[in-house]
Amino acid sequence: MEPVNVAIIYYSATGTVHALARAAAEGAEKAGADVRLRKVAEPAPPEVVGSRPEWAQHVRDTADVPEAGLDDLSWADAVLFGTPTRFGNPASPLRVFMESAGPLWFQGKLADKVYSAFTASNTAHGGQESTILALANTFYHWGGIIVPPGYTDPVQFQSGNPYGTSHVAGDGPPSDVILQAARHQGRRVAETAASFKAGRAA
Ligand SMILES: Cc1cc2nc3c(=O)[nH]c(=O)nc-3n(C[C@H](O)[C@H](O)[C@H](O)COP(=O)(O)O)c2cc1C
Repeated sequence: MEPVNVAIIYYSATGTVHALARAAAEGAEKAGADVRLRKVAEPAPPEVVGSRPEWAQHVRDTADVPEAGLDDLSWADAVLFGTPTRFGNPASPLRVFMESAGPLWFQGKLADKVYSAFTASNTAHGGQESTILALANTFYHWGGIIVPPGYTDPVQFQSGNPYGTSHVAGDGPPSDVILQAARHQGRRVAETAASFKAGRAA
């Protein structure tokens, strides 16, 4: 049986969501998946990015992360999407990427994959669940199999978000508990996708 293909596709301006994406990638890799970690294109012009030193620094730090393409969606058996919460919703650069997948959706090529999502916001009640649920609206349209972390690992009782890993960026960088939750989510998504793949092959 071939390994399961997991794409982790994210947007991050100042590195928080990127840290969660890397942890999710570690979890999926540990579960035996082939993993592609991909950022979506940064649409902000350089002068806007440069107006915030931490944003400009993050863009430099992740220059070597490949940009997501539609081939990554086609390749994947499972996709984890990561985004900052912006006004209670996913950030527009990630939405632009998802909307560019219209032709794949039309050909039925986004259906039957496993999908999951994670986020960060500046405040505890700043819209983490609404952001993850907004992404889930799209997963329904795609005919996806939504796999949330729930409370399927003890770390979930500490990190506390059954919808998807989330971090309050206003408290500083993600703690070990949050990174562990992201690893668990990556592992769970990979394992679930592997079960489906094996079942279909049988
Ligand atoms: C335009 C904009 C809107 C935002 N809206 C929210 C929000 O609704 N709730 C919140 O808690 N934080 C909000 N934030 C803060 C971001 O969620 C936070 O900076 C982000 O999670 C950090 O992730 P990153 O380091 O990966 O970019 C907003 C930030 C921007 C730039």
